[in-house]
Amino acid sequence: MFFVRICIELTSLLQLPAEIALSVETRGYARVPATNYLVPCMNSDKLTSYRERRCPSHCMLALQSESAFVFWPSRTAAAMPTTLQESIPVLSSDEVISRLRKNGNALNKPFRAMYSSVLNGIITDVSFMLVPIDDHMVHRGHGVFDTAIISNGHLYELDAHLDRLLRSASMAKINPPFSRQELRDILVKTAAVSKAKDGLLRYWLSAGPGGFNLSSHECPTASFYAVVHDLMEESTEPVKVITSSVPMKSPFFATMKSVNYLPNALALLEAEEQGAFAGIWVDEQGFVAEGPNTNVAFVTASGELLMPEVGKILAGCTARRLLSIAEDSLNGLRPPIDNLKAVSVRPILAEEAKRASEMMMIGSGLPVVPVIQWDTQQIGNGQPGPVTLALKALLEEHILADSSSHHERIPYDVYA
Ligand SMILES: Cc1ncc(COP(=O)(O)O)c(C=O)c1O
Repeated sequence: MFFVRICIELTSLLQLPAEIALSVETRGYARVPATNYLVPCMNSDKLTSYRERRCPSHCMLALQSESAFVFWPSRTAAAMPTTLQESIPVLSSDEVISRLRKNGNALNKPFRAMYSSVLNGIITDVSFMLVPIDDHMVHRGHGVFDTAIISNGHLYELDAHLDRLLRSASMAKINPPFSRQELRDILVKTAAVSKAKDGLLRYWLSAGPGGFNLSSHECPTASFYAVVHDLMEESTEPVKVITSSVPMKSPFFATMKSVNYLPNALALLEAEEQGAFAGIWVDEQGFVAEGPNTNVAFVTASGELLMPEVGKILAGCTARRLLSIAEDSLNGLRPPIDNLKAVSVRPILAEEAKRASEMMMIGSGLPVVPVIQWDTQQIGNGQPGPVTLALKALLEEHILADSSSHHERIPYDVYA
């Protein structure tokens, strides 16, 4: 509950003390203590007109906070809601639309377009980018998702991400409402309508709307949603990570990209609370797993790039591309990377990993972030390592290049 102190400008009718506290209980209303009354709060920009029109017959309380004022409309006091429940209106459809629009405008979210199979269309007004409450993805977590980057007007690695979405859907017993090609076409069109040249395309396959039971048998058809939004500014600074104390997902759930990301969200919050970039999961045998939304890799003192096997973690598309870039360099298909001598994918004990010369986090939105400290252990010399920086540059170059088979040109002109 949020308390605001007030000073009274005019309280003749109420006989309120000179200083009281109001608790703001719900948007637009505050409760006057020692009374059972809720009073409407208004912003200071509305004060002038309000004062001119209504002040003579009303009592006004001015908040010490510069931006808020509370008015007591004395003549209508009897009609004022007296409980929180009474202050909650029952809305008409028009009112819902108007409130959604108001909320959408106020939030100013950088969401450019949304596809919804429920509406069978693409929405560009952020106010209406919504999912039904009875969708089993919402109330049972019965959904899977994936993400692809939009870079320089192209979708990067769309097919790899779409394949993983369909693998996850099959594990989650979700029968997609469209063929792979149709899903792909929807994603490309949503990206085009969004007009975003850089951003993220996120998409979900869900058991679908149908009711509030546990079994998805009540859902007539699975649903598909996709959203294009702007990229968040990521820091390019090297980071520190911690060992996560949040229990790790079992392999079945870790290898599926389902919407059950509570462990991941908690692992990230725990890290953020300690000023770290991510929490790293280490399994019961002491082997390194992954971060909450990234894979991890290490470079040993002898120049070996090490990555954990994917049997117990999510098979990251970015990590796989990074491995193939590193292998190409070793095999002479790309210029060599100084200090890189070998590539291995194998179980890595956390003890061994902490002694590595270099450590990096890898994922779609990053794509590579150097790690210089894990718990209290400095990694290498405490600076981003040369192999990490070389791989980061090569991967960024690969993402930006727009002519490879990993890039799908977005046909903005077709949907302009
Ligand atoms: C748990 C987890 N591991 C790894 C990754 C990295 O995968 P990708 O490189 O495909 O983005 C992600 C991405 O979201 C993730 O959620």
